Amino acid sequence: MKLRVVPLGPKGYPFIGSLLHFASHNRIDWLQSLIDTYGDIVTFKLLKKRAYFINHPELIKEVLTNSSANYTKKTISFKIVKEVLGESTFTSVGDEWKRKRLLVQPYFHKSQIAILSNLMTETIEKMLAQWETDCDAGKVIDLTDAMMQVTLQIVVKALFSTALSDEDLQTVGATFPPLLAATNRRAILPFQWLSALPLSSNKNYQGYIDKLDKIIFRIIRHRRASNDEPMDLLQMLMEATDGETGQPLTDDELRNEAMTMFIAGHETTANALSWLWSILPRQTVVRTNLEREVDAVLGKRAPNASDYPNLSYCLKVFKETMRLYPPVPILPRNVERDHKLGEYHIEGGSDLFFSPYLLHRHPDFWSHPELFDPHRFDQESHREQHSFAYIPFGGGPRICLGNNFALMEAVFITAMVTQKFRLNVVNGAKIEPLMSLTTRPKYGISVRLERRP
Ligand code: HEM
Repeated sequence: MKLRVVPLGPKGYPFIGSLLHFASHNRIDWLQSLIDTYGDIVTFKLLKKRAYFINHPELIKEVLTNSSANYTKKTISFKIVKEVLGESTFTSVGDEWKRKRLLVQPYFHKSQIAILSNLMTETIEKMLAQWETDCDAGKVIDLTDAMMQVTLQIVVKALFSTALSDEDLQTVGATFPPLLAATNRRAILPFQWLSALPLSSNKNYQGYIDKLDKIIFRIIRHRRASNDEPMDLLQMLMEATDGETGQPLTDDELRNEAMTMFIAGHETTANALSWLWSILPRQTVVRTNLEREVDAVLGKRAPNASDYPNLSYCLKVFKETMRLYPPVPILPRNVERDHKLGEYHIEGGSDLFFSPYLLHRHPDFWSHPELFDPHRFDQESHREQHSFAYIPFGGGPRICLGNNFALMEAVFITAMVTQKFRLNVVNGAKIEPLMSLTTRPKYGISVRLERRP
């Protein structure tokens, strides 16, 4: 079969190609304009390299599944993330990744996550108790901040249970937001050498990492020296051994996995939940349905793992939120060798990108894509959908390791907040997405808490 030529997108500028568009905060709009003009596959230059953008589930499926070995994570943004995480399930490639994934994966199975459900609900209850006080005081709260803190506390406790002192928790809570913001900034810097300059921002960056390392290594050392065996992820990871060599993870490897869970495991969930609460005030029918489900399944008690399957409407609302606002808006890959992708020739050594954000709004795969409709995730309708038209967690062998964790956590937060409160976005609040490594509300989301009638 004769291969088709990938449509040649805009020429861009000499030397840098389309870098300014691609590295700008408007890159999603720019990519949308490329799709509108050239279709579901297009190529352009980024610096000296060729880049491809694909926006068809069949092509994305091929990249993530059968041909995943040719489309690796050896890209600039993963290199930046690796400065913080080191070699871990998130950043490694090839055999090194396989070994780590096999070791860690069993602890993220649904049945294992259920063990962590109490710890999730206890943390959410603490937040809600604070909200009661805030509500009485008529306080406006920044929801994005609140969601970040609660998801961070949950993942920290899942890893270290009670090993973190209040002081550690405060340090972790204060260090992550600036570290994440700096990582996001760096990942879309047009010139990576900027991050090596001896600027105070670069020194602060290393400072944040050092602070977190100090806490993580201290906990690992204590745990090795003690006879306690708490039911947390750190303990499970310490006991895990390589199926072939019988070797456990070293302290450095444990540190990298812990840092990965922290970074990969809270901002994503927090952002999706922030979008959910910003959408609900405009979706009164959805809000009423949520309240009905929560009242029927839980009444006034906190959920436990066995309630999770019954909170199916909460889950659909969260999934639909991630359709419109997928926490990871763009995924990059490095093309190792020349390859036939569908009917197209793809050059080895180039970059390839696809966007859950744009794919989830593709009119060929989603009817009235701009409408918020949780029933899209009813079993019937979802069965008819292309399996790669919805990829908030990626797909194939490198699908998000924490997807079960994230879904249970998000459903519990949605249900427990709904039991007690309605969140009203403050009048006139500007809500816009900021697309960097993640899809965040650019100005946060200010809400006033109202007790459920
Ligand atoms: C709603 C929440 C979340 C979203 C939308 C999300 C999204 C993603 C996506 C899109 C990827 C694939 C990246 C790629 O293929 O390039 C990924 C990978 C990963 N995620 Fe998540 N994630 C979420 C929550 C979590 C949580 C809670 C954890 C852990 C506690 C986690 C840990 C990981 C890890 C370790 C990987 C790398 C897996 C591998 O490459 O083998 N994520 N996530």
